[in-house]
Amino acid sequence: MNSSTLEMRNISISFAGFPALRQVDFTLEGGSVHALVGANGAGKSTLMAVLSGTHDHYTGQITIDGQPVTVKLPHQARTHGIHLVQQEVDVALVPTLNVAENIMLDTLSEPGHLHNWSDIYHHAQRLIDQLGLSINLRGRIESCTLAEKQLILLARALSHKCRFLILDEPTAPLDQAESERLFALVRKLKAAGMAVVFISHRIHELRDICDRMTVLRDGRLVSDDSMEGLTNEHIIEKMIGHQLEDIYPPRRPPHSPETLLRIQGMHDKDKLRDISLSLHRGEILGIAGLAGAGKTELCKALFGATPSQVESGELNGKPWKPKEPYLSVELGLALVPEERRKEGIFIDEDIPMNLSVTADDSFSRFSIFNSRQALSWAKDIMGRLGIRASGPLQKLARLSGGNQQKVAIGKWLRSESQVLIFDEPTKGVDIKAKTDVFRLIDGLAQQGKGIIYASGEFAELVGLCDRILVLWDGRIVAELNAADVDEEILLMYSTGGTPA
Ligand SMILES: Nc1ncnc2c1ncn2[C@@H]1O[C@H](COP(=O)(O)OP(=O)(O)OP(=O)(O)O)[C@@H](O)[C@H]1O
Ligand SMILES: [Mg+2]
Repeated sequence: MNSSTLEMRNISISFAGFPALRQVDFTLEGGSVHALVGANGAGKSTLMAVLSGTHDHYTGQITIDGQPVTVKLPHQARTHGIHLVQQEVDVALVPTLNVAENIMLDTLSEPGHLHNWSDIYHHAQRLIDQLGLSINLRGRIESCTLAEKQLILLARALSHKCRFLILDEPTAPLDQAESERLFALVRKLKAAGMAVVFISHRIHELRDICDRMTVLRDGRLVSDDSMEGLTNEHIIEKMIGHQLEDIYPPRRPPHSPETLLRIQGMHDKDKLRDISLSLHRGEILGIAGLAGAGKTELCKALFGATPSQVESGELNGKPWKPKEPYLSVELGLALVPEERRKEGIFIDEDIPMNLSVTADDSFSRFSIFNSRQALSWAKDIMGRLGIRASGPLQKLARLSGGNQQKVAIGKWLRSESQVLIFDEPTKGVDIKAKTDVFRLIDGLAQQGKGIIYASGEFAELVGLCDRILVLWDGRIVAELNAADVDEEILLMYSTGGTPA
């Protein structure tokens, strides 16, 4: 492949008067990986939406190898070899089509084309092999994991003559091993002359695979540098405009010995085996595990969102077994789910509506929804979590990915719940917002609530939790004091290892 250079110059775009990008320049070289970073809502996805032909109302120029090109429609971008693997994978997949059809979607949707199905499957298989993925081509999209969905979209991009590949937060749903596999692939594509844009909030990964880095802040270009010599501190400072002193809150005073929730011998149909755990008042209990270990299954089963069998259990001193989500909420249990876009928020509603639906009726005394109170509460939460939007009445669908996550977390902060279960709460959330989320969760624990915090980000578990349970293949394989462990120890247990 001959490598090409793409330049975006002076790109500006507004939505209903809100400037999402202001005169941004961005240069992409073939044979290199280019990091695009910035806080939630900085404009990363919007800049890449422009480049992939999603918007036609921007101003500015795009050239490839010095030649001006028109990119105002998705097919125009594709003609130039520009392909985007979106941040919200579900939006780009068609659930009624199978895996192979989703991979070959662009070819299948070309008008006036007669398809040779054996060619289609053959081509899809070749792409899957190239990605080192083992997946049933005739399988349903629904039964794919997030990591698989991501790779299906990547395969779709590679089904064309791709010169410029955009990966918008590709590692958010991946664990460390899956990310490594993706990086190996990205390195191969780069060696073949492709230009890759890589967006991520995991700052430590950037130096692994990126050659250059562009930083956006509030829709403006802040810097464009070679990755060489940049430290994590430099990157954070460029992103948020100042240094970040402490990522984790100071150690909490010891929590109460009182048991808030206890469960003995929990099983489910597919994954969970003989889970026993207890949670104390004021404690943050971490659940560590790689993708597929059963963290999400455990969170959902505890909340009663999926069926499980339990030998015995207690909540707030009374016998209890998880049954149905609405009963859990009545008993003071809350779950912030992993796939928030699908399960945790109302995408077509505005921010106050989303923040108040779970707030225990406190805005709807006598069934009258008090929108003024809801609005002032929304403004407060937006300030505390740094939610970037054109205003509180913006629909969730129009917020950036990370800002949607913050709304999903924010809506529980007012609740009367005694036990809060967080499933990967910081996924897709920028570094500053992460520290805000940690502080909020720490504050909830200090108020005497019990927190269950499931995550594949082991550094976060060590930094935030009191005690950590490690899940491996649906079982708890270790119970550790957070003060005595580090990331390596968690990684060892979570890959099924035992101490030498
Ligand atoms: N179609 C749209 N309509 C209205 N506002 C939009 C639209 N697309 C983007 N915006 C706004 O533009 C800003 C930039 O959003 P963008 O999605 O580019 O952020 P991002 O840098 O990708 O953030 P994240 O890290 O959270 O994914 C946000 O404030 C967002 O609400
Ligand atoms: Mg984005």
